[in-house]
Amino acid sequence: MPDVHINLGERSYDVVVGAGVLADLGVRAAALVPGRHAFLILDDKLPEETVLAAAASLDAAGFTVTRATVTALEVEKSLETVKRLLGAVGGARLERRDPVIALGGGITGDVGGFVAASYRRGIPVIQCPTTLLSMVDASVGGKTGVNLEIEGGLKKNMVGAFWQPRLVLADINTLRSLPARERRAGLAECLKHGLLCGESDGELFDWTIEHLGDIDALNMEVLTELVSRNVHVKAAVVVADEREEAGTGGRALLNLGHTFGHAIEPMKSLSPDGDAKHAPLLHGEAVGYGMMAAARAARLLGRIDDEAELEIRNGVGEALELRPLGGLPESSVVLDAMQHDKKVSGGRLRLVLPVGGRRCATFDDVDAGVIAAAIDSLRE
Ligand SMILES: NC(=O)c1ccc[n+]([C@@H]2O[C@H](COP(=O)([O-])OP(=O)(O)OC[C@H]3O[C@@H](n4cnc5c(N)ncnc54)[C@H](O)[C@@H]3O)[C@@H](O)[C@H]2O)c1
Ligand SMILES: [Zn+2]
Repeated sequence: MPDVHINLGERSYDVVVGAGVLADLGVRAAALVPGRHAFLILDDKLPEETVLAAAASLDAAGFTVTRATVTALEVEKSLETVKRLLGAVGGARLERRDPVIALGGGITGDVGGFVAASYRRGIPVIQCPTTLLSMVDASVGGKTGVNLEIEGGLKKNMVGAFWQPRLVLADINTLRSLPARERRAGLAECLKHGLLCGESDGELFDWTIEHLGDIDALNMEVLTELVSRNVHVKAAVVVADEREEAGTGGRALLNLGHTFGHAIEPMKSLSPDGDAKHAPLLHGEAVGYGMMAAARAARLLGRIDDEAELEIRNGVGEALELRPLGGLPESSVVLDAMQHDKKVSGGRLRLVLPVGGRRCATFDDVDAGVIAAAIDSLRE
Protein backbone atom coordinates (compact mmCIF):
# COMPACT_ATOMS: atom_id res chain seq x y z
CA MET A 1 0.00 0.00 0.00
CA PRO A 2 1.63 3.31 -1.01
CA ASP A 3 2.29 5.37 2.12
CA VAL A 4 3.78 8.82 2.08
CA HIS A 5 5.69 10.02 5.09
CA ILE A 6 5.42 13.73 5.82
CA ASN A 7 8.61 14.67 7.59
CA LEU A 8 7.99 17.61 9.92
CA GLY A 9 10.04 16.65 12.95
CA GLU A 10 7.80 15.96 15.92
CA ARG A 11 4.77 16.81 13.77
CA SER A 12 5.57 14.06 11.22
CA TYR A 13 2.83 11.73 10.01
CA ASP A 14 1.93 9.17 7.38
CA VAL A 15 -0.54 9.50 4.54
CA VAL A 16 -1.92 6.05 3.80
CA VAL A 17 -3.51 5.66 0.38
CA GLY A 18 -5.41 2.63 -0.88
CA ALA A 19 -8.76 0.95 -1.52
CA GLY A 20 -10.20 -0.26 1.79
CA VAL A 21 -7.74 1.39 4.19
CA LEU A 22 -10.61 2.71 6.36
CA ALA A 23 -10.84 -0.82 7.76
CA ASP A 24 -7.51 -0.11 9.50
CA LEU A 25 -8.61 3.21 11.00
CA GLY A 26 -9.21 1.87 14.52
CA VAL A 27 -5.97 -0.10 14.80
CA ARG A 28 -3.88 2.72 13.37
CA ALA A 29 -5.58 5.34 15.56
CA ALA A 30 -5.08 3.19 18.66
CA ALA A 31 -1.37 2.91 17.89
CA LEU A 32 -1.02 6.67 17.53
CA VAL A 33 -3.14 8.19 20.31
CA PRO A 34 -3.56 7.08 23.92
CA GLY A 35 -7.20 8.20 24.29
CA ARG A 36 -10.05 5.77 23.56
CA HIS A 37 -12.90 8.19 22.93
CA ALA A 38 -13.13 9.22 19.28
CA PHE A 39 -15.17 12.18 18.05
CA LEU A 40 -16.17 11.27 14.49
CA ILE A 41 -17.15 14.25 12.32
CA LEU A 42 -18.99 13.08 9.21
CA ASP A 43 -19.98 14.71 5.95
CA ASP A 44 -23.76 14.19 5.90
CA LYS A 45 -23.75 13.06 2.23
CA LEU A 46 -21.58 10.01 2.81
CA PRO A 47 -23.18 6.66 2.07
CA GLU A 48 -23.87 4.42 5.04
CA GLU A 49 -21.18 1.88 4.05
CA THR A 50 -18.44 4.51 4.29
CA VAL A 51 -19.61 5.68 7.71
CA LEU A 52 -19.90 2.08 8.86
CA ALA A 53 -16.41 1.16 7.66
CA ALA A 54 -14.96 3.90 9.88
CA ALA A 55 -17.25 3.42 12.87
CA ALA A 56 -16.93 -0.39 12.92
CA SER A 57 -13.15 -0.19 12.69
CA LEU A 58 -12.99 2.25 15.62
CA ASP A 59 -15.40 0.13 17.60
CA ALA A 60 -13.38 -3.05 17.00
CA ALA A 61 -10.24 -1.30 18.23
CA GLY A 62 -11.91 -0.42 21.52
CA PHE A 63 -12.93 3.20 20.89
CA THR A 64 -16.09 4.76 22.23
CA VAL A 65 -17.39 6.80 19.28
CA THR A 66 -19.38 10.02 19.46
CA ARG A 67 -20.68 11.17 16.08
CA ALA A 68 -21.53 14.57 14.64
CA THR A 69 -22.28 15.69 11.09
CA VAL A 70 -21.34 18.61 8.86
CA THR A 71 -23.19 19.78 5.77
CA ALA A 72 -20.50 20.47 3.18
CA LEU A 73 -21.46 24.00 2.12
CA GLU A 74 -19.19 27.04 2.33
CA VAL A 75 -21.82 28.86 4.43
CA GLU A 76 -21.69 25.99 6.89
CA LYS A 77 -17.89 26.23 7.10
CA SER A 78 -18.37 28.78 9.83
CA LEU A 79 -17.70 29.71 13.43
CA GLU A 80 -21.31 28.74 14.19
CA THR A 81 -20.57 25.17 13.07
CA VAL A 82 -17.33 25.17 15.07
CA LYS A 83 -19.27 26.35 18.13
CA ARG A 84 -21.85 23.60 17.69
CA LEU A 85 -19.15 20.94 17.29
CA LEU A 86 -17.07 22.22 20.21
CA GLY A 87 -20.21 22.05 22.34
CA ALA A 88 -20.66 18.43 21.29
CA VAL A 89 -16.99 17.57 21.88
CA GLY A 90 -17.14 19.15 25.33
CA GLY A 91 -20.51 17.54 26.04
CA ALA A 92 -18.99 14.14 25.20
CA ARG A 93 -16.20 14.98 27.67
CA LEU A 94 -13.34 14.34 25.29
CA GLU A 95 -9.99 14.50 26.97
CA ARG A 96 -6.73 15.92 25.76
CA ARG A 97 -5.47 12.65 24.29
CA ASP A 98 -8.72 11.62 22.56
CA PRO A 99 -8.84 12.05 18.78
CA VAL A 100 -11.13 13.95 16.45
CA ILE A 101 -11.61 12.03 13.22
CA ALA A 102 -12.79 13.97 10.17
CA LEU A 103 -14.42 11.79 7.51
CA GLY A 104 -15.46 13.82 4.47
CA GLY A 105 -14.28 16.33 1.91
CA GLY A 106 -12.23 19.47 2.42
CA ILE A 107 -15.00 21.29 4.26
CA THR A 108 -15.35 18.55 6.86
CA GLY A 109 -11.57 18.27 7.16
CA ASP A 110 -11.01 22.03 7.53
CA VAL A 111 -13.76 22.38 10.14
CA GLY A 112 -12.84 19.16 11.95
CA GLY A 113 -9.18 20.09 11.99
CA PHE A 114 -9.96 23.50 13.46
CA VAL A 115 -12.21 22.00 16.14
CA ALA A 116 -9.33 19.69 17.08
CA ALA A 117 -6.84 22.58 17.01
CA SER A 118 -8.92 24.70 19.37
CA TYR A 119 -10.49 22.26 21.86
CA ARG A 120 -8.36 22.34 25.01
CA ARG A 121 -5.72 24.18 22.93
CA GLY A 122 -5.35 21.21 20.65
CA ILE A 123 -6.20 17.52 20.58
CA PRO A 124 -5.15 14.97 17.94
CA VAL A 125 -6.90 14.90 14.57
CA ILE A 126 -6.96 12.14 11.99
CA GLN A 127 -7.99 13.17 8.49
CA CYS A 128 -9.96 10.67 6.41
CA PRO A 129 -10.58 12.50 3.11
CA THR A 130 -13.40 11.28 0.86
CA THR A 131 -13.12 13.59 -2.17
CA LEU A 132 -10.31 13.59 -4.72
CA LEU A 133 -9.58 17.22 -3.85
CA SER A 134 -9.28 16.55 -0.15
CA MET A 135 -7.11 13.46 -0.73
CA VAL A 136 -4.57 15.24 -2.91
CA ASP A 137 -4.71 18.67 -1.35
CA ALA A 138 -6.81 19.71 1.67
CA SER A 139 -6.09 16.82 4.05
CA VAL A 140 -2.31 17.15 3.72
CA GLY A 141 -0.39 20.11 5.10
CA GLY A 142 -2.15 21.10 8.30
CA LYS A 143 -4.16 24.12 7.19
CA THR A 144 -7.48 24.13 9.07
CA GLY A 145 -10.15 26.77 9.48
CA VAL A 146 -13.44 28.33 8.53
CA ASN A 147 -14.88 31.24 6.55
CA LEU A 148 -15.80 34.56 8.13
CA GLU A 149 -18.86 36.67 7.31
CA ILE A 150 -17.68 40.30 7.09
CA GLU A 151 -19.03 43.33 5.26
CA GLY A 152 -21.88 41.20 4.00
CA GLY A 153 -19.53 38.81 2.21
CA LEU A 154 -18.05 35.43 2.98
CA LYS A 155 -14.28 35.70 3.36
CA LYS A 156 -12.82 32.28 2.75
CA ASN A 157 -10.54 30.64 5.30
CA MET A 158 -10.13 33.85 7.35
CA VAL A 159 -10.06 32.10 10.72
CA GLY A 160 -7.97 29.05 11.38
CA ALA A 161 -4.82 27.41 12.56
CA PHE A 162 -1.98 25.28 11.30
CA TRP A 163 -2.69 21.95 12.94
CA GLN A 164 -1.02 18.91 11.44
CA PRO A 165 -2.97 15.64 11.56
CA ARG A 166 -1.54 12.55 13.28
CA LEU A 167 -2.50 10.45 10.28
CA VAL A 168 -4.19 10.83 6.91
CA LEU A 169 -6.12 7.81 5.69
CA ALA A 170 -7.23 8.19 2.07
CA ASP A 171 -9.56 5.29 1.28
CA ILE A 172 -9.90 5.24 -2.51
CA ASN A 173 -13.09 3.17 -2.19
CA THR A 174 -14.88 6.23 -0.84
CA LEU A 175 -14.48 7.91 -4.26
CA ARG A 176 -17.01 5.45 -5.72
CA SER A 177 -19.91 7.51 -4.36
CA LEU A 178 -18.43 10.92 -5.20
CA PRO A 179 -20.36 12.71 -7.99
CA ALA A 180 -18.37 12.59 -11.26
CA ARG A 181 -18.31 16.38 -11.53
CA GLU A 182 -16.72 16.65 -8.07
CA ARG A 183 -14.17 14.02 -9.08
CA ARG A 184 -13.25 15.91 -12.26
CA ALA A 185 -12.97 19.17 -10.32
CA GLY A 186 -10.50 17.47 -8.00
CA LEU A 187 -8.33 16.76 -11.03
CA ALA A 188 -7.62 20.49 -11.26
CA GLU A 189 -5.36 20.27 -8.20
CA CYS A 190 -3.72 17.13 -9.65
CA LEU A 191 -2.93 18.89 -12.94
CA LYS A 192 -1.71 21.88 -10.93
CA HIS A 193 0.73 19.58 -9.11
CA GLY A 194 1.79 18.14 -12.46
CA LEU A 195 2.62 21.64 -13.69
CA LEU A 196 4.72 22.68 -10.71
CA CYS A 197 6.51 19.55 -9.48
CA GLY A 198 9.52 19.91 -11.78
CA GLU A 199 11.73 16.86 -12.09
CA SER A 200 10.38 15.14 -8.98
CA ASP A 201 7.51 13.75 -11.11
CA GLY A 202 7.92 15.29 -14.54
CA GLU A 203 5.51 12.81 -16.18
CA LEU A 204 2.59 13.40 -13.79
CA PHE A 205 0.70 15.90 -15.99
CA ASP A 206 0.88 13.72 -19.14
CA TRP A 207 0.22 10.51 -17.19
CA THR A 208 -2.95 12.04 -15.71
CA ILE A 209 -4.26 13.10 -19.11
CA GLU A 210 -3.46 9.65 -20.56
CA HIS A 211 -5.39 7.96 -17.74
CA LEU A 212 -8.56 10.09 -17.80
CA GLY A 213 -10.53 7.07 -19.09
CA ASP A 214 -9.34 4.88 -16.21
CA ILE A 215 -10.08 7.63 -13.71
CA ASP A 216 -13.61 8.02 -15.07
CA ALA A 217 -14.08 4.25 -14.92
CA LEU A 218 -12.98 4.30 -11.24
CA ASN A 219 -10.01 2.03 -11.85
CA MET A 220 -8.87 1.66 -8.23
CA GLU A 221 -5.23 1.01 -9.09
CA VAL A 222 -4.99 4.10 -11.25
CA LEU A 223 -6.81 6.22 -8.65
CA THR A 224 -4.48 4.95 -5.94
CA GLU A 225 -1.44 5.85 -8.03
CA LEU A 226 -2.96 9.24 -8.87
CA VAL A 227 -3.60 10.13 -5.23
CA SER A 228 -0.29 8.77 -4.03
CA ARG A 229 1.78 10.67 -6.62
CA ASN A 230 -0.08 13.88 -5.88
CA VAL A 231 0.36 13.51 -2.13
CA HIS A 232 4.10 13.18 -2.78
CA VAL A 233 4.10 16.49 -4.65
CA LYS A 234 2.00 18.30 -2.04
CA ALA A 235 4.10 16.81 0.78
CA ALA A 236 7.37 18.02 -0.75
CA VAL A 237 6.02 21.57 -0.96
CA VAL A 238 4.63 21.48 2.59
CA VAL A 239 7.80 20.05 4.09
CA ALA A 240 9.84 22.80 2.44
CA ASP A 241 7.52 25.59 3.66
CA GLU A 242 5.23 24.33 6.44
CA ARG A 243 3.67 27.69 7.36
CA GLU A 244 3.73 29.46 3.99
CA GLU A 245 6.50 31.81 5.01
CA ALA A 246 8.73 31.40 1.96
CA GLY A 247 7.03 34.26 0.05
CA THR A 248 7.97 33.38 -3.52
CA GLY A 249 8.38 29.68 -4.23
CA GLY A 250 7.29 27.29 -1.48
CA ARG A 251 3.58 26.92 -0.71
CA ALA A 252 2.82 30.07 -2.70
CA LEU A 253 3.37 28.07 -5.91
CA LEU A 254 0.30 25.99 -5.00
CA ASN A 255 -1.68 29.11 -5.97
CA LEU A 256 -1.22 28.33 -9.66
CA GLY A 257 -4.61 29.03 -11.26
CA HIS A 258 -6.02 30.31 -7.97
CA THR A 259 -5.67 34.10 -8.35
CA PHE A 260 -7.66 34.01 -11.61
CA GLY A 261 -9.81 31.21 -10.21
CA HIS A 262 -10.76 32.98 -6.97
CA ALA A 263 -11.92 36.00 -9.01
CA ILE A 264 -14.40 34.00 -11.10
CA GLU A 265 -15.44 31.39 -8.49
CA PRO A 266 -17.99 33.71 -6.79
CA MET A 267 -19.59 34.76 -10.13
CA LYS A 268 -22.77 32.79 -9.61
CA SER A 269 -23.96 32.65 -13.24
CA LEU A 270 -20.85 31.00 -14.72
CA SER A 271 -21.08 27.34 -15.64
CA PRO A 272 -18.44 24.95 -17.07
CA ASP A 273 -20.54 23.96 -20.08
CA GLY A 274 -22.63 27.08 -20.66
CA ASP A 275 -25.74 25.40 -19.22
CA ALA A 276 -27.25 27.71 -16.57
CA LYS A 277 -28.42 24.66 -14.62
CA HIS A 278 -24.76 23.79 -13.94
CA ALA A 279 -23.83 27.21 -12.49
CA PRO A 280 -21.93 28.17 -10.40
CA LEU A 281 -18.43 26.81 -11.00
CA LEU A 282 -16.94 24.39 -8.51
CA HIS A 283 -13.63 25.49 -6.98
CA GLY A 284 -11.65 23.05 -9.13
CA GLU A 285 -13.39 24.25 -12.30
CA ALA A 286 -12.57 27.88 -11.49
CA VAL A 287 -8.95 26.83 -10.86
CA GLY A 288 -8.99 24.95 -14.18
CA TYR A 289 -9.97 28.15 -16.03
CA GLY A 290 -7.37 29.93 -13.91
CA MET A 291 -4.64 27.58 -15.14
CA MET A 292 -5.74 28.17 -18.73
CA ALA A 293 -5.48 31.93 -18.20
CA ALA A 294 -2.09 31.47 -16.51
CA ALA A 295 -0.86 29.50 -19.51
CA ARG A 296 -1.90 32.32 -21.86
CA ALA A 297 -0.28 34.97 -19.66
CA ALA A 298 2.94 32.93 -19.50
CA ARG A 299 3.00 32.61 -23.30
CA LEU A 300 2.35 36.34 -23.78
CA LEU A 301 5.24 37.07 -21.43
CA GLY A 302 7.45 34.76 -23.49
CA ARG A 303 7.93 32.24 -20.67
CA ILE A 304 6.43 29.28 -22.54
CA ASP A 305 5.85 28.69 -26.27
CA ASP A 306 2.61 28.22 -28.23
CA GLU A 307 2.83 24.46 -28.03
CA ALA A 308 3.25 24.42 -24.24
CA GLU A 309 0.32 26.80 -23.82
CA LEU A 310 -1.89 24.61 -25.98
CA GLU A 311 -0.85 21.46 -24.12
CA ILE A 312 -1.89 22.98 -20.77
CA ARG A 313 -5.14 24.47 -22.06
CA ASN A 314 -6.22 21.34 -23.92
CA GLY A 315 -5.24 19.01 -21.08
CA VAL A 316 -7.06 21.01 -18.42
CA GLY A 317 -10.09 21.57 -20.65
CA GLU A 318 -10.38 17.87 -21.47
CA ALA A 319 -9.88 16.61 -17.90
CA LEU A 320 -12.39 19.02 -16.39
CA GLU A 321 -14.77 19.13 -19.37
CA LEU A 322 -14.55 22.91 -19.57
CA ARG A 323 -16.10 24.85 -22.45
CA PRO A 324 -15.35 28.46 -23.38
CA LEU A 325 -16.72 30.79 -20.69
CA GLY A 326 -19.17 32.76 -22.81
CA GLY A 327 -20.81 34.47 -19.85
CA LEU A 328 -17.61 35.91 -18.43
CA PRO A 329 -17.94 39.64 -17.61
CA GLU A 330 -15.53 42.14 -19.18
CA SER A 331 -11.91 41.54 -18.29
CA SER A 332 -11.83 44.80 -16.27
CA VAL A 333 -14.46 43.37 -13.90
CA VAL A 334 -12.43 40.18 -13.38
CA LEU A 335 -9.24 42.21 -12.99
CA ASP A 336 -11.00 44.33 -10.33
CA ALA A 337 -11.91 41.19 -8.43
CA MET A 338 -8.27 40.06 -8.62
CA GLN A 339 -7.12 43.50 -7.43
CA HIS A 340 -9.56 43.31 -4.54
CA ASP A 341 -8.00 40.03 -3.48
CA LYS A 342 -4.66 41.81 -3.56
CA LYS A 343 -5.93 44.67 -1.35
CA VAL A 344 -7.35 42.20 1.13
CA SER A 345 -4.01 40.44 1.41
CA GLY A 346 -2.24 43.80 1.65
CA GLY A 347 0.30 42.73 -0.94
CA ARG A 348 0.97 42.95 -4.64
CA LEU A 349 -0.99 41.25 -7.35
CA ARG A 350 1.19 38.16 -7.47
CA LEU A 351 0.58 35.57 -10.14
CA VAL A 352 1.94 32.06 -10.32
CA LEU A 353 2.69 31.18 -13.93
CA PRO A 354 4.14 28.12 -15.68
CA VAL A 355 7.68 28.65 -16.94
CA GLY A 356 8.25 25.32 -18.73
CA GLY A 357 9.92 22.12 -17.56
CA ARG A 358 6.88 21.45 -15.33
CA ARG A 359 7.91 24.35 -13.15
CA CYS A 360 6.15 27.51 -12.04
CA ALA A 361 7.33 30.83 -10.66
CA THR A 362 5.72 33.86 -9.02
CA PHE A 363 5.41 37.10 -10.96
CA ASP A 364 4.67 40.51 -9.42
CA ASP A 365 3.02 43.41 -11.20
CA VAL A 366 2.31 41.65 -14.47
CA ASP A 367 1.19 44.16 -17.12
CA ALA A 368 -2.58 44.72 -16.89
CA GLY A 369 -2.90 44.28 -20.66
CA VAL A 370 -1.40 40.78 -20.43
CA ILE A 371 -3.75 39.85 -17.58
CA ALA A 372 -6.75 41.22 -19.51
CA ALA A 373 -5.77 39.23 -22.60
CA ALA A 374 -5.36 36.10 -20.47
CA ILE A 375 -8.86 36.61 -19.02
CA ASP A 376 -10.32 37.24 -22.47
CA SER A 377 -8.75 33.99 -23.71
CA LEU A 378 -11.23 32.07 -21.53
CA ARG A 379 -14.01 33.07 -23.94
CA GLU A 380 -12.26 31.28 -26.85
N1 LIG B 1 -6.80 22.90 4.13
C1 LIG B 1 -6.32 23.02 2.91
O1 LIG B 1 -5.10 23.02 2.68
C2 LIG B 1 -7.27 23.11 1.76
C3 LIG B 1 -6.80 22.96 0.45
C4 LIG B 1 -7.73 22.99 -0.58
C5 LIG B 1 -9.07 23.18 -0.31
N2 LIG B 1 -9.49 23.36 0.97
C6 LIG B 1 -10.91 23.57 1.28
O2 LIG B 1 -11.61 22.39 0.92
C7 LIG B 1 -12.96 22.73 0.62
C8 LIG B 1 -13.37 22.00 -0.63
O3 LIG B 1 -13.23 20.63 -0.42
P1 LIG B 1 -13.91 19.53 -1.35
O4 LIG B 1 -13.74 19.87 -2.76
O5 LIG B 1 -13.45 18.23 -0.85
O6 LIG B 1 -15.43 19.82 -1.12
P2 LIG B 1 -16.56 19.46 -0.04
O7 LIG B 1 -16.03 19.11 1.28
O8 LIG B 1 -17.49 20.59 -0.17
O9 LIG B 1 -17.24 18.18 -0.72
C9 LIG B 1 -17.80 18.28 -2.01
C10 LIG B 1 -19.17 17.61 -2.11
O10 LIG B 1 -19.00 16.20 -2.12
C11 LIG B 1 -19.78 15.59 -1.07
N3 LIG B 1 -19.01 14.41 -0.70
C12 LIG B 1 -17.82 14.36 -0.06
N4 LIG B 1 -17.34 13.11 -0.07
C13 LIG B 1 -18.24 12.35 -0.70
C14 LIG B 1 -18.29 10.97 -1.06
N5 LIG B 1 -17.28 10.14 -0.81
N6 LIG B 1 -19.40 10.51 -1.69
C15 LIG B 1 -20.40 11.36 -2.00
N7 LIG B 1 -20.39 12.68 -1.74
C16 LIG B 1 -19.32 13.15 -1.10
C17 LIG B 1 -19.96 16.68 -0.06
O11 LIG B 1 -21.11 16.48 0.73
C18 LIG B 1 -20.09 17.91 -0.95
O12 LIG B 1 -21.40 17.99 -1.46
C19 LIG B 1 -13.00 24.24 0.50
O13 LIG B 1 -13.67 24.77 1.61
C20 LIG B 1 -11.55 24.66 0.50
O14 LIG B 1 -11.35 25.91 1.10
C21 LIG B 1 -8.61 23.32 2.00
ZN1 LIG C 1 -7.55 24.83 -4.79
